[in-house]
Amino acid sequence: MYSNSGGTAIQAKIVNQLRDRDIEAITDLNLGHANAHNGTITCHNVNMEELDAFFSYNAGQQTPYQVFLYQVLNESIPCLNSFESFSLSEDKLRTSHRLSRAGIRTPDYRLCNTKDKPMLKNTIREWGGRLVYKPTDGWGGMGIVKVEDERSLDMLIPFLDQTNIPHFYVERFINYDMTDYRIDIVDGEFVGCYGRQAPKDDWKTNVTSGGSVIRREPNDELVALAIKAAKVTGLDIAGVDVIYDQEHEEYVVLEVNGIPAFATPEQEAAGLTFNEGKIERIVNLIERKAIEKRASMQAALTSQL
Ligand SMILES: Nc1ncnc2c1ncn2[C@@H]1O[C@H](COP(=O)(O)OP(=O)(O)O)[C@@H](O)[C@H]1O
Ligand SMILES: [Mg+2]
Repeated sequence: MYSNSGGTAIQAKIVNQLRDRDIEAITDLNLGHANAHNGTITCHNVNMEELDAFFSYNAGQQTPYQVFLYQVLNESIPCLNSFESFSLSEDKLRTSHRLSRAGIRTPDYRLCNTKDKPMLKNTIREWGGRLVYKPTDGWGGMGIVKVEDERSLDMLIPFLDQTNIPHFYVERFINYDMTDYRIDIVDGEFVGCYGRQAPKDDWKTNVTSGGSVIRREPNDELVALAIKAAKVTGLDIAGVDVIYDQEHEEYVVLEVNGIPAFATPEQEAAGLTFNEGKIERIVNLIERKAIEKRASMQAALTSQL
């Protein structure tokens, strides 16, 4: 569980509610302190594979070491989110591709081979002289660049070439009102919605890029879209980011976050009241996963008899 922005208090609520259901929770099982050895993953003397489930919620704090062990652990016990869906959500190309193939609108995107400059030039022409370049594994709006015309692209290419990146992931720039929707879904159900507004004279809504959080009510179409996006990406816990394309008059899904933030104490005071419902649904989810794990172990034992 993340410990910033009120995470410790949220963790305590989750642990207490699990305890009320006779489920013991062990906290501080940081995979950064774990190791895999001769068939077991151990963290602070806990055999991780004997757990009924592993709940991971430390946004932006995952080292490659933790991610590596997360992948291995996921092969033995239920992880929330599953490693497959977590790694999908960390990759912008794979997420857009998965959503698109399921018929969910995303901004038009293209992955270009770095060597294929004509492809990049044709793409910006096709998209009306503008595009957005994104690192496929970025977050918080970092490294995302809007290219406003072909000449700027010509200037950017030599710089990108120097970075040795193997590919350019680019998207069509969507005309929108500089606000977005963050819709939280847990286990296929809507739990809350808020929005973010880009700072004046900017086009990125990320709070880390200066955006501000706003209260926002979703309509049925948005909720249905977010539930579908969560399902398609396989995320049990999902924060779906949506903007409204003013040109085509439709909602587009920008990304699906696998570790969506809880409201901070200040945001709660300002009326973002979804934390309690989200905690309850997460507790229900953990309980269900644990019950399923025990049932499958029982079935495996019975079949051996
Ligand atoms: N194709 C696009 N058209 C217009 N604005 C975009 C587009 N893609 C991203 N943005 C803006 O940039 C922000 C960050 O992009 P996003 O893909 O969500 O990356 P990150 O993972 O860094 O948050 C979005 O919240 C949105 O405000
Ligand atoms: Mg985003």
